[in-house]
Amino acid sequence: MTIESNISLKPYNTFGIDARAKYFTEITSADDFREILGDKNLSGEKKLILGGGSNMLLTKNYDGLVIRNCIPGIEITSEAEHHVIVKANAGVVWHQLVLWAIERNYGGIENLSLIPGFCGAAPMQNIGAYGVEIKDVFYELEAVDIHTGDLVKFGLADCEFGYRESVFKGKYKGQFLITSLSLRFVKLNSPHAFVQYRFKTDYGDIKETLGQMQAFDLSIKVVSDAVIKIRSLKLPDPDKIGNAGSFFKNPVISKEQFETLVAKYPVMPGYLQKDGSVKVPAGWLIEQCGWKGKVVGNTGSHATQALVLVNYGHATGNEIWQLALDIQQSVKEKFGIEILPEVNVV
Ligand code: FAD
Ligand code: EPU
Repeated sequence: MTIESNISLKPYNTFGIDARAKYFTEITSADDFREILGDKNLSGEKKLILGGGSNMLLTKNYDGLVIRNCIPGIEITSEAEHHVIVKANAGVVWHQLVLWAIERNYGGIENLSLIPGFCGAAPMQNIGAYGVEIKDVFYELEAVDIHTGDLVKFGLADCEFGYRESVFKGKYKGQFLITSLSLRFVKLNSPHAFVQYRFKTDYGDIKETLGQMQAFDLSIKVVSDAVIKIRSLKLPDPDKIGNAGSFFKNPVISKEQFETLVAKYPVMPGYLQKDGSVKVPAGWLIEQCGWKGKVVGNTGSHATQALVLVNYGHATGNEIWQLALDIQQSVKEKFGIEILPEVNVV
């Protein structure tokens, strides 16, 4: 493990922001992290944990130590007739785990195909897409307490997962380094499990896309292919244009507020939640405020998905943050709804 000084973080965040870190290192084991915690030259430094940098907006240089969590390895830790528990270490690229599961015909995360980032960050905001969230397949995770260096296990209830939320983004923010994630998959090569398995194809355009693909026999591979097709049409590729996916979360409002708004905006979309509240697509709200496809200096709201803010090449983190604040304010003024960032602003 080497500690580098004054490093540009541009290659390490998908917004492509050229902020610098006072110190930077990559760890490949929990012991590397403990070594840092015990190092008297580093123990006093502020610490920022980084995975793939795909859910982060860096608004300034980081005056401390950036630790890129690259712990490698995927292993099966237990296996039954129809299920398997798979442990992926924090540095495994999430989509590589999806491909690994598809190759073995293990069902559960095919709808989460092509989400950027590393496995260690996936539970941070309970990643979700196309009707599935990581909580649906979660078994446990391991994390190192940054104060004591102890390895702690978290079960499903401990993580307090919600829509784009967990304890690690909330009450334990900055207190744990997640080292591994264990998920429970269904073995679809077992005929009994295959018959029982419910492919999740109800969300958005999945069914329509499967039809276009003429994929009439469902498998995790075809569902994954459909999700990849839909995502590739809508979401800008961070390798070509800097972005961090949805910048804001979709706001959840009361049924009363939704009904009042629908009386004024009859085509306003909304999805009824189990508790009676309504989730409104922030992309629609932003588009109605005239931001979709708008270019503001080096930044803008993307032309095919208004919820995605982009860096056209030379934006600073502050420029993107200013755009986000302006969008937030205009949505508040027009609809009386506060949209909150999904992205971690540093
Ligand atoms: P980073 O951005 O590196 O970190 C995110 C946060 O987690 C930071 O606060 C960081 O400090 C913390 N962190 C990272 N690793 C650890 C660790 N090991 N231990 C403790 N803390 C840690 N998200 C979705 O939910 N659904 C989507 O459909 C989706 N689509 C996206 C599409 C695009 C094009 C992009 C760019 C992003 C998308 N995202 C989506 C957001 C993002 O990919 C996920 O949130 C992803 O899990 C972030 O992983 P990361 O490794 O890049 O995290
Ligand atoms: N919409 C618009 N204009 C837009 C974009 C969206 O009107 O420019 C409306 C449309 O009515 C559309 C609806 O919003 O039907 C939903 O759009 P989409 O299916 O693209 O999903 P989203 O709600 O914008 C969420 C997640 C994505 C996830 C997709 C698919 C959040 C904040 N975002 O987006 O996650 O991939 O659903 O499940 O929940 C991310 O978190 O970074 C992310 C990309």
